[in-house]
Amino acid sequence: MTVCSMAVPFVQDWDLVQTLGEGAYGEVRLLVNRQTEEAVAVKVIDTSQAKECAENVKKEVCVHKMLNHQNIVRFFGHRKEGPTVYLFLEYCTGGELFDRIEPDVGMTAKDAHRFFQQLVAAVEYLHSMGITHRDIKPENILLDDKDNLKLTDFGLATMFRFKGRERPLNRLCGTLPYVAPELLSQTEYKAQPADIWACGIVLTAMLAGELPWDQPSEICQEYSDWLQKKTYLPPWKKIQPMPLCLLSKLLLAKPEARITIADIQKDRWYTQGVKQPSGSLSSGASKHLRADGAVISGANSDDKMQFSSSQPDLAAGGREATLLISQMDGQVSFSQPTKPEHMLLGSQLLGTPGASQTPWQRLVRRLTRFFTTVSADASLASLKDACEGLALRYKLTCTKQVTVSTLDKRNNKLIFKVHLLEMNHRVLLDFRLSKHIVCVFLQGDGLEFKRLFLKIKQKLCDIISTQKVSHPVI
Ligand code: ADE
Repeated sequence: MTVCSMAVPFVQDWDLVQTLGEGAYGEVRLLVNRQTEEAVAVKVIDTSQAKECAENVKKEVCVHKMLNHQNIVRFFGHRKEGPTVYLFLEYCTGGELFDRIEPDVGMTAKDAHRFFQQLVAAVEYLHSMGITHRDIKPENILLDDKDNLKLTDFGLATMFRFKGRERPLNRLCGTLPYVAPELLSQTEYKAQPADIWACGIVLTAMLAGELPWDQPSEICQEYSDWLQKKTYLPPWKKIQPMPLCLLSKLLLAKPEARITIADIQKDRWYTQGVKQPSGSLSSGASKHLRADGAVISGANSDDKMQFSSSQPDLAAGGREATLLISQMDGQVSFSQPTKPEHMLLGSQLLGTPGASQTPWQRLVRRLTRFFTTVSADASLASLKDACEGLALRYKLTCTKQVTVSTLDKRNNKLIFKVHLLEMNHRVLLDFRLSKHIVCVFLQGDGLEFKRLFLKIKQKLCDIISTQKVSHPVI
């Protein structure tokens, strides 16, 4: 069954299965080959929106195609059709690192440690190639089926070293909570320390579930507190001494004093990792060690997205998933060899996508969704009440889509869409942050969206299905 091959017209035998994400540039979609069942991600960029856009995409292609590392999303090739450019990328079934961060909690120190080591490996490789990413953040970090980290989105990347000669950078870009202080205080900055700073902010988000400041300038109280070493305040007080010691070297204000990758690799926490207090995890299989050493139980309360058993998790991919799964009903085989030529027809090829995915793995894990126990109309009515109770603007944009808007704690517009999907007599509410309206530099704290999602979820607890979903019910 063809789901939608019209949207990418030159692609034969590849079905558009689902939209994986959206950004200021356009969308990333999942393509599955009808014969081989291989999956690739295609980033669709409309270059007609801004005149510098075509140049930026050329640069993104030029940079990304040079890269070959296990912790960087593979670039398979690109194709231009009029003003639209398609980038064919490795499909990462684990979704964004961002979705593994529980607001205000983070993740287990063990997971954070492993992800941080892989992030450092990716950045070390990039820097060895003379390239800086310039927008390292959890939204640009994906995970594969084995939870291996993959850095992606080279839209802001640039060459800082060529033939052994390094050049200073001056373009003010990135995402404010992740940018290094020297970008805001100086006209020129060095590439490597700025990426290393962003890795420090990612590590903080993983260990504490919050970003430490809106921006690293002294007008920001939280940043001043950090400069004054007030680590008894959050987020620092949630973090164990060993990783906190590494953070104090990663987040040093002076770029020339900041830790280098070579020294990160000698750091005690980086090399030795997480020491679990003896006996603390002996009872119960589903306990997790939090970054501050506290134990999180797997049998979690409703407001913990990460471990909630009633989440559709891998199972639910919405309408598109329904279609993918009905393809399976037709008994398609899933393990044939890879043929990227089928997809790229005349475009430039650089590698081959991995072929060992199961259909379930192709549905990206997303946590901001849940099934309800009531009808579509009743679900919408409850959602409306919940939004009104939280002083959020609720607007029914189509019959099955609601746009919710508010201001976040930085007074930036926070807009998200709730899609209502009816699947096998059950209703799925799928929440997605809308990224179209924000400019790259101002994109802020996506964790705010998750916090809001949890508040709405709490208000809807009476109508949320607790039925365990171990397999798709589609
Ligand atoms: N979202 C954006 N890019 C992606 C990719 N390559 N794989 C999975 N999800 C994505």
